[in-house]
Amino acid sequence: MARKILIFDTTLRDGEQVPGAKLNTEQKLTVARQLEKLGVDVIEAGFPISSPGDAEAVRQVALAVRNPIITGLARAVKNDIDVLWHSICEAASPRIHIFLGASDIHLAKKLRTDRQKNIEMAVDAVRYAKKLCPNVEYSTEDASRSDFDHLCRTIEAVIEAGATVINVPDTVGYAVPEQFGALIRRIRESVPSTDRIILSVHCHNDLGLATSNSLAAVANGANQVECTVNGIGERAGNAALEEIVMTIKTRHDAFDVECGVVTTEIAATSHLVSRMMNIPVQPNKAIVGQNAFAHSSGVHQDGILKDRSTYEIMSPETIGLKEHMLILTARSGRAALRHKLKDMDYEISDRMFEKIYKRFLKVADRKKEIGEKDLRSIVEIELSKVPETYAFVSLQVMSGDKALPLACVTLKKGDEELRDASIGNGPVNAIFNCIDRISGHSAMLADYKVEALTTGKDALGEASVQVRIDDHTYSGRGASSDVLEASARAYINAFNRYFAAARDD
Ligand code: KIV
Ligand code: ZN
Repeated sequence: MARKILIFDTTLRDGEQVPGAKLNTEQKLTVARQLEKLGVDVIEAGFPISSPGDAEAVRQVALAVRNPIITGLARAVKNDIDVLWHSICEAASPRIHIFLGASDIHLAKKLRTDRQKNIEMAVDAVRYAKKLCPNVEYSTEDASRSDFDHLCRTIEAVIEAGATVINVPDTVGYAVPEQFGALIRRIRESVPSTDRIILSVHCHNDLGLATSNSLAAVANGANQVECTVNGIGERAGNAALEEIVMTIKTRHDAFDVECGVVTTEIAATSHLVSRMMNIPVQPNKAIVGQNAFAHSSGVHQDGILKDRSTYEIMSPETIGLKEHMLILTARSGRAALRHKLKDMDYEISDRMFEKIYKRFLKVADRKKEIGEKDLRSIVEIELSKVPETYAFVSLQVMSGDKALPLACVTLKKGDEELRDASIGNGPVNAIFNCIDRISGHSAMLADYKVEALTTGKDALGEASVQVRIDDHTYSGRGASSDVLEASARAYINAFNRYFAAARDD
């Protein structure tokens, strides 16, 4: 049977140490409830001694969230432990978490103590905590840079004093996977009493190795991983919960361990934490970045549509997303566009599809990504097109606050290219005047609107016009990432309706 790994979430403590990420009690409760839904084993809800507000927030979490173990952080001093205990004593399963530096750097420069006194301080704190709470975690801060013998002596002593969990942190993100894995194995081998306790790791991401180091530790005998949602935390952050959990799940063959996280809650939790703490998730972030399941190259999209396993090692549904996203770009092929249109419930003939594809490529050339709204506009304009007496070819406009607006428009009528230039009281007016001159008809503009279909600087603009020609009103629509071109297309579309109506009469 696979070994069980406990997931210790410290989003509300180490994660909250990110500048600007401080949560109030209500927000902490919301995140803690979601972490419970996510199925983490331990929630570190805060550092109660840091402020009365945090102490109260941790207390509220302890009262409201009953399934996971609730812990909070304390330095190895009585007052910290008392304040923490007051916050968590009513939890269904409380745990006191004490930390104290173990490396010579911390001993000499920060704590100004020696190794013997360091062990005595640790033992005193654990003994004191143990009188209050049966479940005590002891963290050997900066373990990865600590003297190995001192580390083992400390661990042995605090287990003897009653610690039930020993945490080995890579506090400054200095470790590399092979060495860190070996450290965990050597601790297990050198301190036999670690058989009786949970051996935990807590890795920081200063070299981008937090997940790898944590997993190397798991492979070598660690049975608790401390991590945060989206990998947030002090400096470059902590090991990302979603990366640990999804690696264990996806590469079960490599680790043969399991954890109790409900993976379908990962996306929702990531989103909530990002929103609550105001820390955006980088787009290419593993598992939870917005591009993590987005296939954009034509070759990849074709593969995905044929069989998802071609380019997908885990399905987006596993983390609670509806489905993989096909981001349509100029590189997307016909198959991807057809699939997307079908998804959007369009029934389109092969002939019409070719027209839409041609137009799609033109728009995608200018706009990097084509979303559903863009596509809807492209399709609906193509579907509502009348026979093209005049077809748009090109447009040049000169305008400015001091210059007289001038437009040069080229249209196609049958095989013939027609070009003219015109001035106007604005660039749009100049374009419309120019189209009037080419067509030999003068239209009265009754209505004109431009709307951005999507957000962003490269949004597709849709222009709609109503023109009156010979006492009849004709409407037209055109779309482009260039609003002047969209306007020209809309005006030509209205003219084509006029010609089509004239032919029908
Ligand atoms: O990074 C660290 O060492 C910590 C400890 C308090 C566990 O956050
Ligand atoms: Zn930390």
